[in-house]
Amino acid sequence: MRIILIGFGVVGQNFAKLLLSRNDDLYALYGMKPRIVAVVDSKGSVISTSAINLQKLLNIKKTKGTVAKYENGGKKNAEDIIESVDAEVVVELGPTNLKTGEPGMSNIIAAIKDGKNVITTNKGPLALALPSLIELADYNNVTLRFSGTVGGGTPILEFAKRCLKGDRIKSFRGILNGTTNYILTKMDDGLTFNEALVDAKKNGYVEADPTLDIDGYDAAAKLVIMANWIMNMKVTMNDVNFTGIRNVSVEDIKSAIKKDNIIKLIASSDKELTVKPTEVPKNNPLCVNGTLNAVTFSSEYSGHQTIIGRGAGGMETASAVLRDLIEIREVMSRR
Ligand code: HSE
Repeated sequence: MRIILIGFGVVGQNFAKLLLSRNDDLYALYGMKPRIVAVVDSKGSVISTSAINLQKLLNIKKTKGTVAKYENGGKKNAEDIIESVDAEVVVELGPTNLKTGEPGMSNIIAAIKDGKNVITTNKGPLALALPSLIELADYNNVTLRFSGTVGGGTPILEFAKRCLKGDRIKSFRGILNGTTNYILTKMDDGLTFNEALVDAKKNGYVEADPTLDIDGYDAAAKLVIMANWIMNMKVTMNDVNFTGIRNVSVEDIKSAIKKDNIIKLIASSDKELTVKPTEVPKNNPLCVNGTLNAVTFSSEYSGHQTIIGRGAGGMETASAVLRDLIEIREVMSRR
C-alpha cells in the first residue's frame, strides 16, 4: 500500500514509529506492506516512489526540523503531491481549522477526486462538510475514514458503528473533550477556573487556540462527526447549540457537589445537538476524571453502554490512523 502523508507533527511521527514497530505483524496478520512514498510538513516535502526510510526520516525531522532535508527533498505543496504521486491512501494530519477547514479541506477533496482513499485526524473539514465529503467519497468509489477525530485512540466511532450493528442507537451523550474535563476535575478539587486553566496549559493539554477547548468548539466538532457517522444525520457545526465551561463558577461546582452531582461538559444527541456544562450524578459512568473521554450510547434493544478511554495523545491517535489503514486495506481487498 502506497501512502502519502500530509503533516509530520506529533501524530505523523508517531504513525511512522508505529509502522516501523508493527511492520512484521502487519504483514503476518493482514497481508499489508505499507510504504510511505511522500511526506509533506509545514516547511517542505519529500517524494520517493521506492519508499521512504522511516527511521532516517524521523532522525532528519528531529535534527533538521523538516522532511525537506531528506535526500531529494523539496518544496512541492500538498495538493501537487496528492495529484502527481501514485498512492492508494492519503493520510491527512493537518491542523484543525474550524472556520474554513483549510488547508485540510482542499487536500481531502483533491485526494478523493483523484481516486485516493483518505484517512484524516482533522476535525475542521469534517465538522464543516462531512455529509458532502462522504457523498464525494462514495461517488468516487473511495473510502474516507476519520477514527482519530473522536476519542483519540479510543474507538468510539467504531464501537457505535460496528459493535452495535443490528441495534438502533436512539441517542448518545458524553465527554468528548479531555482538556475541559481536566479543568472541571481540578475545579472539583478546589481550583478556580483560571487556576485550573493555567494548570492544564502547564501540562500541555490545551489547544494552541484555547477557545477551541474552553468554549466548546472541539466538543461540538466531535459531536457533528458522531451525529453524521453514527446517527446518519446530515449536520454541520451550525446545527449544534454549544456553550463551553468559561462561565462555570466555584459556586456552581459546590452547589452540584451538595446534590451529589458533578459538572461535566456533556455533548448530547438527545432531541437536539448540544454541548453544555451539565450536572451528572456522581455515580454515573460518565463521571470520569482528568483528560478521559466517556460516551454512553442508548440503544433500543441492548440498553446503555459506556465506552471510556484516553481522548488524545500522539501515539493514541496514531493507533487510530493505523486502525483506519487496516480497514481501508480490507475494503480494497473486497472490491
Ligand atoms: N483538545 C482536544 C481535547 C484534543 O482536549 O480533547 C483531542 O482532540
